[in-house]
Amino acid sequence: MKKHYFYLFPLAVPVLLHYLMMTSCTAMKRLSLGTDQSALLALKAHITSGQQEFLSENWSSTAAASSVCDWIGVQCSSRHQRVTALNISNMGLTGTIPPDLGNLSFLVSLDLRNNYFHGNLPEELSHLRRPRFVRLTTNNFTGEIPMWFGHFPELQFLFLDGNGFSGFIPSSISNLSRVEKLDLSYNFLEGNIPEKIGNLSVLRELYLSGDDLVGQIPLSLCKFSQRQVLDLSNNRLSGQIPKEIGNLEKLKELYLITNNLTGVIPREIGNLYGLELLVLGSNNLTGHQRLLAPGF
Ligand SMILES: *[C@@H]1O[C@H](CO)[C@@H](O)[C@H](O)[C@H]1NC(C)=O
Ligand SMILES: *[C@@H]1O[C@H](CO)[C@@H](O)[C@H](O)[C@H]1NC(C)=O
Ligand SMILES: *[C@@H]1O[C@H](CO)[C@@H](O)[C@H](O)[C@H]1NC(C)=O
Ligand SMILES: *[C@@H]1O[C@H](CO)[C@@H](O)[C@H](O)[C@H]1NC(C)=O
Ligand SMILES: *[C@@H]1O[C@H](CO)[C@@H](O)[C@H](O)[C@H]1NC(C)=O
Ligand SMILES: *[C@@H]1O[C@H](CO)[C@@H](O)[C@H](O)[C@H]1NC(C)=O
Ligand SMILES: *[C@@H]1O[C@H](CO)[C@@H](O)[C@H](O)[C@H]1NC(C)=O
Ligand SMILES: *[C@@H]1O[C@H](CO)[C@@H](O)[C@H](O)[C@H]1NC(C)=O
Repeated sequence: MKKHYFYLFPLAVPVLLHYLMMTSCTAMKRLSLGTDQSALLALKAHITSGQQEFLSENWSSTAAASSVCDWIGVQCSSRHQRVTALNISNMGLTGTIPPDLGNLSFLVSLDLRNNYFHGNLPEELSHLRRPRFVRLTTNNFTGEIPMWFGHFPELQFLFLDGNGFSGFIPSSISNLSRVEKLDLSYNFLEGNIPEKIGNLSVLRELYLSGDDLVGQIPLSLCKFSQRQVLDLSNNRLSGQIPKEIGNLEKLKELYLITNNLTGVIPREIGNLYGLELLVLGSNNLTGHQRLLAPGF
């Protein structure tokens, strides 16, 4: 009898282990799909009008194709079958964002552009770890821009323009070391442009137009030559245009129109041979056109 055990054992253990791993993997997959599904169903339940009839048919756990990965606007990773992208832009949706959305732990891309979502962004969204692309453009979100945006280490594109965000630009934004495009335009942001924003070394396009920003143009913005677009127009910025702006050799577009800038237009702007658009009107600037390169 003992011998039997001895011979069975080496075979039984791997088989048992294999069986255990298979079942726990399947269980884990089902559990995580459940998490993603309940997050999206919670979002659906927070949508009060718009094309929600459409979503209620399509985003349905009872329909034949019941995997969330087949739902409209949803993309999943092929490996884990977890939700990686949610795009419900341009659907005329009114509603709020439930905290459950923070459970979409594989989410890389979130696009809610051009709807009527309102209210604050729930703090639970800070549980997301992987977002690279966040676009909330043209909604009606209010409250301050949350500090926790600075905790998304992978974030490359952040568009919060055209909402009702107020308060200061959070200094945690300077933590977004991978951010390439940042748009906070057309909100009600006040205070200074944080000097630390200049630390964003790969930032190519910065849009801060149409807020209520005051103070000077931070010198730090002229530190990295990656900048291609700087739009600080329609604020109440004062002081002079830093001559260091001439260091931004890749700059293509510079918008400073409608501020309270004073002093002479720095001749260094003439060094920016790639400049295609220079919009400086409605300020209190002086200078001579002939100081600039031909073409201006
Ligand atoms: C939702 O719409 C998509 C794309 O139109 C379709 O492939 C999918 O089967 C639909 N799912 C349900 C549950 O109706
Ligand atoms: C979301 O969908 C819209 C329209 O279908 C498209 O234009 C946009 O590029 C998509 N967003 C992302 C992040 O792919
Ligand atoms: C998802 O998030 C909500 C709210 O943050 C929470 O109540 C819920 O337990 C979470 N987990 C799952 C699996 O839905
Ligand atoms: C946005 O919210 C404000 C107040 O919270 C409200 O007066 C306004 O009508 C809303 N706009 C839209 C387009 O929903
Ligand atoms: C900056 O990012 C790190 C790592 O993601 C995080 O621990 C820290 O709290 C962030 N700082 C701010 C000010 O957001
Ligand atoms: C910004 O960069 C300066 C040096 O260029 C560094 O001393 C400072 O710690 C940086 N700040 C942040 C918030 O990363
Ligand atoms: C512009 O600057 C002048 C002088 O510094 C100040 O008196 C005026 O109030 C400012 N205007 C605005 C709209 O901030
Ligand atoms: C424009 O600048 C001049 C000279 O610096 C100053 O006298 C005048 O008050 C300024 N105007 C405004 C509207 O700031």
